[in-house]
Amino acid sequence: MLTNTNIIFEYAQKHKCAICAFNVSNLETIKAVTEASRELKAPIIISASEGAIAYAGANNLVSLAGNFSRDTSVPMALHLDHGKSYEICKKCIDAGFSSVMIDGSSLPFEENVALTKKVVQYAHKHGVSVEGELGQIIGIEDNVSSASSILTNPQQAKEFVAKTGCDSLAISIGTAHGINKGSITPQIHYETIEAVSKALGKKYPLVAHGSSSVPQNLVANINKFGGEITKSQGIDYIDLVKMSTTSICKINIDTDLRLCFTSSIRQYLFENREVFDPRKILGSATNQIKDYAKYLINMLTLKK
Ligand code: G3H
Ligand code: 13P
Ligand code: ZN
Repeated sequence: MLTNTNIIFEYAQKHKCAICAFNVSNLETIKAVTEASRELKAPIIISASEGAIAYAGANNLVSLAGNFSRDTSVPMALHLDHGKSYEICKKCIDAGFSSVMIDGSSLPFEENVALTKKVVQYAHKHGVSVEGELGQIIGIEDNVSSASSILTNPQQAKEFVAKTGCDSLAISIGTAHGINKGSITPQIHYETIEAVSKALGKKYPLVAHGSSSVPQNLVANINKFGGEITKSQGIDYIDLVKMSTTSICKINIDTDLRLCFTSSIRQYLFENREVFDPRKILGSATNQIKDYAKYLINMLTLKK
């Protein structure tokens, strides 16, 4: 069933774990992550960026996520990732998303407060949860880019949450968006997580973006079968596990699922040259994403 993130974060706090937020943009990725969640009986957050919505359509994503999460008591949220305007948040809420992120992190503080507060007022009227963002997370994606990282200021975070009423807060702690997070494993600023958590109260849910591990075996496999990915670097799994023991309740993963998809498709087409049935080609990619999602859920949510 689709729920807002409040129930999901209660689960995270009760079990002292983090929930995986997986970025999706089509039937295959939604099928993969929801099946992983159902089979492991662990909550997840299904995230769709503005780019994913432009590609697949908000109503289609709501229908797919709704259908794949039906007939199970495992809570799942359908969440807008990095919404940049009030209009896109309203559009998603009206379409049936159960959660939205309003990312005003590139705006001056007071403008970020005003925008986030406006989204919260509309969302809460509809039972939808809201994630805000404070600080700047480095990295480049289609719709999300920042050249340099600015760690979240704990006192500003306290003021931001008090003024906006947002339900969770994405913070900048040294992670980065995209396939290349630096020349060495990024250093996670645990002292910033601790300080923000202390300022907001231990129970307040914090969110880590840019948390893909960029497995080098996937990058190597893509390149083996014709890809040309040159620079790539992710977050160490040890850091993800450590983050999941803090007030970080939500860990965002997009790049890793894209790597699973591309690695699987390149290999499958090379090894099965006679196949032209999309169900077989995409089916192998779906299975690889599902297995990887299960690996992360086991590690970060179920602590196995
Ligand atoms: O954090 C950003 C996500 O990875 C979304 O990326 O805008 O390319 O869909 P996208
Ligand atoms: P990655 O690029 O590390 O997967 O980050 C995803 C993310 O933060 C989505 O909001
Ligand atoms: Zn992000």
